[in-house]
Amino acid sequence: MPALRQSVEELALVETARKVLPAGHFGNAQTEIIIREGRAGRVWDMSGNEYVDFLLGSGPMFVGHCHPDVVAATQAQIPKGTTFFVNNEHGIRLAEEIVKAVPCAEKVRFNSSGTEADLYAMRVARAFRKREKILKFEGGYHGMSDYSLMSLAPRRPGNFPVPVPDSAGIPRAVTEQVMIAPFNDAATAESMIAAHQDELAGVIVEPFQRLLPPKPGFLQALRAATQRYGIPLIFDEVVTGFRFAYGGAQDYYGVVPDLCSLGKIIGGGFPLAAVAGRADIMAHFDKALVGDDGFLMQIGTLSGNPVAAAAGLATLEVLRRPGAYEGVFATGRALMEGIAEQIRKAGLPAQVVGEPVLFDVIYTNTPVQNYRDTLRADANLQKHFNQHLRANGVLKGESKFYMSLAHTEADVAHTLKAFAAAIEALAQSPALAK
Ligand SMILES: Cc1ncc(COP(=O)(O)O)c(C=O)c1O
Repeated sequence: MPALRQSVEELALVETARKVLPAGHFGNAQTEIIIREGRAGRVWDMSGNEYVDFLLGSGPMFVGHCHPDVVAATQAQIPKGTTFFVNNEHGIRLAEEIVKAVPCAEKVRFNSSGTEADLYAMRVARAFRKREKILKFEGGYHGMSDYSLMSLAPRRPGNFPVPVPDSAGIPRAVTEQVMIAPFNDAATAESMIAAHQDELAGVIVEPFQRLLPPKPGFLQALRAATQRYGIPLIFDEVVTGFRFAYGGAQDYYGVVPDLCSLGKIIGGGFPLAAVAGRADIMAHFDKALVGDDGFLMQIGTLSGNPVAAAAGLATLEVLRRPGAYEGVFATGRALMEGIAEQIRKAGLPAQVVGEPVLFDVIYTNTPVQNYRDTLRADANLQKHFNQHLRANGVLKGESKFYMSLAHTEADVAHTLKAFAAAIEALAQSPALAK
């Protein structure tokens, strides 16, 4: 593997990080490189190494780093003030745009992270339904709240519907408030919803769970079963919102939930997220409509922050331009197909899973439709490929290629070359190349 050149300054800062940050990092990813800057579809580390960037800040930078219109919008706001707590024009206009674009969104409440958006989506469902239990899917990611950390990534999955907490520090009582179902299994979800209809406050699902597309009919079945009993269906669109289509995954897959959470793209690279949905459910954020008992208090110092909202609005404006989605889908498709072709030729036990704007290789050739299927993947092979890609100038998350509008044919060609180098290196790693 070609070694990455690391400067004395970068190595020293890595050392400082080890001293002052638990585990030496912000909690999100490893320590060994420090990103200095990004432009369009590329980033540079402190030592000057250049990478094609498929991490995209974990997804927000869908139009690329430092898009000139997003930079201009934020630069226009900053000298006028960066936060006011009360309403500002950009925040109101962003809410208006979300209502126009997202099918389920009649009202929008901002906060600062996807974790919060999901937490409030579940809470407002409870306030509306006057019930307590939430049904979620094993392997579904809804941020870091106590509820969301139920069976997010259990190493030893339990028996459905009993949840497994994925973190220390979660009160045991929370396990009694969450039920777990297998993703992509409509019959099981339907029968759990029917059996527990009188206890359920809501059903939360990533319409595209991590990398796994919904099987045809799965989301429709959830929609029908929840509608039958008046249980709010929540789509977590923190990742898919404005990415799979301008109207999000609910538009892309043609199934409209009652509530959704949004984040990442709508903040244009700044901290901003939202819960959005049906007016009668969102009414619980308005004391004048629901009175003291039904009211859900929700306050956040930076909610609807004007710089973040300006960046989000400018990002959405770029996405409304003709050809925006066709372009990024075409680039993503070219990379997906190029990698799949190499896998086929090399006879690798692996497959490309996902949609052209968000996918990755899963290192098993058995079908992958739910969380338990993903556990069959070869983690060492995944590590090998990710390390080789990084060493060959490709930055990605552990299990995701996020595509951006800024990625080019040259970026795809560079990445395919890096992937080929990783395949070639496999021959020198007999323990891996089983
Ligand atoms: C589907 C999904 N929901 C929620 C979140 C949490 O968002 P945040 O990291 O902004 O709290 C994430 C983060 O990646 C996510 O992928």
